[in-house]
Amino acid sequence: MNADSVHGGGGTVLGKDGALPEGDTKYRAVEGMFDRLAPRYDRMNRVISLGMDKRWRKHTVAALGVPAGARVVDLACGTGDLCRDLAGVGARPVGADFSAGMLANARTDAPLVRADGARLPFATGALDGLTCGFALRNFVDLDAVFRECARILRPGGRFAALDATVPANPMMRMGNAVWFRGAVPLLGRMLAGDAEAYSYLPKSTAYLPAEPELRDRLRLAGFADVGSRTFTGGSVLLLTGTRVEAAVEGPGSGVAS
Ligand SMILES: C[S@@+](CC[C@H](N)C(=O)[O-])C[C@H]1O[C@@H](n2cnc3c(N)ncnc32)[C@H](O)[C@@H]1O
Repeated sequence: MNADSVHGGGGTVLGKDGALPEGDTKYRAVEGMFDRLAPRYDRMNRVISLGMDKRWRKHTVAALGVPAGARVVDLACGTGDLCRDLAGVGARPVGADFSAGMLANARTDAPLVRADGARLPFATGALDGLTCGFALRNFVDLDAVFRECARILRPGGRFAALDATVPANPMMRMGNAVWFRGAVPLLGRMLAGDAEAYSYLPKSTAYLPAEPELRDRLRLAGFADVGSRTFTGGSVLLLTGTRVEAAVEGPGSGVAS
């Protein structure tokens, strides 16, 4: 826990020394940060991804590979981009996010629910698919979230999660650092009035385990056919899997979908 991080909206997410928060401090600081960023989130997203985020999400929905009519939860749905893409291929999305601010700014016809990724209000085995865009590194306990994803998916249900990562190639890594650690906080200050939040976003890639470990942890949670691919020189990772294990009882089990 980092006592220097202020809890809740309007506060700071990084400690005074620029340290990343952990545990409960991280949970509240991240929630407060997204509540604060929500009204400007979409515009900033397009700018910092140079418009490429739309293409990454389309790949995510294609990799999910669910048929029309499939019931899919978009975990950490934010302002609903993936919900819209899922609806566009005939799926029936439901968005879940813990930030009231992001949900209030969502532009989607999908039903939305305010919930933590580790305690989802869906019955065991109720969903055919689950997507998650740019949120894995924001969760406090990634294994608990992976287990919860396994719990709510039916056997054979599909999982596809997209997140920012650091490229393995040294040249790409340098370019990535110049953009995300140099330009993005500056743009965050100019366009969103929040350099600190846009310093957190690139720094938070440090939370994400290396890709082979991520795949192992997804398998341990109850997924098979675990695969991954990267986009844009290795700066974005897509992690996929298929739920095969028997239902894992979790904190949200027993709650009606
Ligand atoms: C970078 S935004 C991504 C939003 C959206 N998925 C997208 O692709 O644009 C990360 C989202 O994760 C949500 N989030 C972070 N931690 C969460 C948690 N523990 N439970 C639910 N949502 C969470 C935030 O509120 C925020 O909306």
